[in-house]
Amino acid sequence: MTDEPLVLGIETSCDETGVGIVRGTTLLADAVASSVDEHARFGGVVPEVASRAHLEAMVPTIDRALKEAGVSARDLDGIAVTAGPGLAGALLVGVSAAKAYAYALGKPLYGVNHLASHICVDQLEHGALPEPTMALLVSGGHSSLLLSSDITSDVRPMGATIDDAAGEAFDKIARVLNLGFPGGPVIDRYAREGDPDAIAFPRGLTGPRDPAYDFSFSGLKTAVARWIEAKRAAGEEVPVRDVAASFQEAVVDVLTRKAVRACKDEGVDHLMIGGGVAANSRLRALAQERCEAAGIRLRVPRPKLCTDNGAMVAALGAEMVARGRSASSWDLSADSSLPVTDPHVPGSFGDESQGHGHGHGHDHVHEVSKENLYS
Ligand code: KG4
Ligand code: ZN
Repeated sequence: MTDEPLVLGIETSCDETGVGIVRGTTLLADAVASSVDEHARFGGVVPEVASRAHLEAMVPTIDRALKEAGVSARDLDGIAVTAGPGLAGALLVGVSAAKAYAYALGKPLYGVNHLASHICVDQLEHGALPEPTMALLVSGGHSSLLLSSDITSDVRPMGATIDDAAGEAFDKIARVLNLGFPGGPVIDRYAREGDPDAIAFPRGLTGPRDPAYDFSFSGLKTAVARWIEAKRAAGEEVPVRDVAASFQEAVVDVLTRKAVRACKDEGVDHLMIGGGVAANSRLRALAQERCEAAGIRLRVPRPKLCTDNGAMVAALGAEMVARGRSASSWDLSADSSLPVTDPHVPGSFGDESQGHGHGHGHDHVHEVSKENLYS
């Protein structure tokens, strides 16, 4: 019998209904239902459509995850849920479901941060995160360099995008090229057959006086769109593969350059890359090359764990339990703009509230630790 916490995680911040189950740092189930096809014709995620899809997918996806893991809901040591950041209505479906299951089963509830989850998920792939870890977090809504000495309590922003997120730039350029939504995977595919040096697109915020760890992708996006428009206006064919490869190179060149520099400046010998854009094949290859040259160990989870999923939420929830973090109170709410510096969301009653009048099984809930869970 292992003493590692068995945790179910629920993720509904955007268009994926993710339910994962982990035991400590071991992945047992990763069930995802995506509504991406329902959004494709709009060229982006439609919040109301996402919320309704989460509602419909929630119970079947939880059942599927439990079956895949071969565990019973009664055996869980906690239920973790993304409390933010993300789409308010979509988050609310996950938070409500997590509360309902936690309350009905008599289990502690953990509200966690989506961004910290994108980092913590790597524990399922490569074991415990070194402390400190430098993390390059690149998704559809965020692009940040974060330094963390404890993923459940200490996430320090070193730099972030001042305009668009990296994933957003991929999505926008794919739209201009009429390649559909989401743009990252399809640009990644086209770029493999293109020349990354064909067109010299700008590298944002890389001048000597620019902030060392901040990013900007809006100038690049405009430059690429203008280049394409000029070709079309001249009646020339747009070399889609070369544009995709040259654009992608501009993004990953800046991301990896700044991440390696931050590691060197801070004396950190591990770099973790997480978030949907970390699935990008060229980002993974260039990061590997540059980290090796700088003597830095690179950790990137497999692509399926980079894009949104429930296992990452379960991974952070399990870490919360293992480190004895307090459970969230029953008034936990969804916070669409939850700051990256709050990995753990206690709810407004703090440690006091869980266990008030919910019958047996809740007495220990407000001070969960490995010891009292398994005693
Ligand atoms: O983390 P994620 O799944 O959702 C958010 O939290 O935003 O990230 C989604 C983003 C989208 O912008 C998508 O285009 C991008 O990740 N993405 C990629 C790749 N796969 C997904 N970007 C570049 N290359 C990929 N292979
Ligand atoms: Zn994400």
